[in-house]
Amino acid sequence: MSDELSLLREEIGALKKKRNAIILAHNYQRDEVQAIADYTGDSLELSRTAATVDCDIIVFCGVHFMAESAAILSPDKIVLLPEAGATCPMAEMIEVDADRRVWRTFPGYAIQPSFVFPHDFTLKDIKKQYPGTPVVAYVNTTAEVKAESDICCTSANVVKVIESLPDEKVICIPDRNLSMWAQKSTKKQIIAWDGFCHVHDRVTRQDVLDARNKYPAAALMAHPECRLEVLELADYVTSTSGMLRFAKASPAKEFIVGTELGLMYRLKEDNPCKTFHPLRADMICPNMKKTTLKSIMNALSNMEKIIKVPAEIRIPAKMALDRMLDLK
Ligand code: 13P
Ligand code: SF4
Repeated sequence: MSDELSLLREEIGALKKKRNAIILAHNYQRDEVQAIADYTGDSLELSRTAATVDCDIIVFCGVHFMAESAAILSPDKIVLLPEAGATCPMAEMIEVDADRRVWRTFPGYAIQPSFVFPHDFTLKDIKKQYPGTPVVAYVNTTAEVKAESDICCTSANVVKVIESLPDEKVICIPDRNLSMWAQKSTKKQIIAWDGFCHVHDRVTRQDVLDARNKYPAAALMAHPECRLEVLELADYVTSTSGMLRFAKASPAKEFIVGTELGLMYRLKEDNPCKTFHPLRADMICPNMKKTTLKSIMNALSNMEKIIKVPAEIRIPAKMALDRMLDLK
């Protein structure tokens, strides 16, 4: 480790102590960020940790919607997002009202399940179209969208969340690929939105065939934000932490990893005798990579950027998150 990195680690350690702070890092963060985190995990694990961890300050190394969820779940703590510009483009693909809409056009995409709304609709429009139909919001959404939804889900529990509802029809927002994947595992009708993750949606069936050809002995894991054509060829489809568990438990010695490359850090740390190949070398989320040790140190010394959610949004958004977290 360079002198600069070890100095930064020392300074962060001292500031953490002084401020009674805890560092949470998503599995996609830079290696050096994951290395100093108190807790790493997928979206679901980090939400659970944020809701229960004992500290005054949470430094959330991830993207905006994750820090926002932590602020919703822990209103008594200060939540810092070290890089204010670390956002998730998919979370911005659905807006509650027309005047806040930022994404308008999307490339065409062949979809199978139920129905997908075009993007000149808002969440309020879709709710009007299907009155009384519950809205399942992927955690990759803004606090405003969560506040207008009935329950949240993550990639780890989407089917469980849908099945927990008494209704035969559910609206799932905003990820079309996650919805299509869930549609395969439920008899309920899913009304999906046409959002996507640009990192996972770029992977094609041909990429899978090429990787299988190159590494014939490897087991292929894919995140449900990938296209259905990719998921149908995978050996295991799961969240980022699901992949960590699968790789550890599997007798396979070699894996093809169909998610953001930050996961390689923990995969390799946890399984030094196993080999991991990226499904595509460009599966890198630029927003997840914005946070550095320097930005964490600045966040803790300047107490920036504090993520706050106003009570009128926080309270209904917390209800949607709590309903998910309450599912056993
Ligand atoms: P996980 O919930 O699997 O951690 O995924 C979050 C995410 O942003 C995937 O792109
Ligand atoms: Fe959003 Fe995709 Fe980045 Fe996850 S990997 S934070 S879904 S852009």
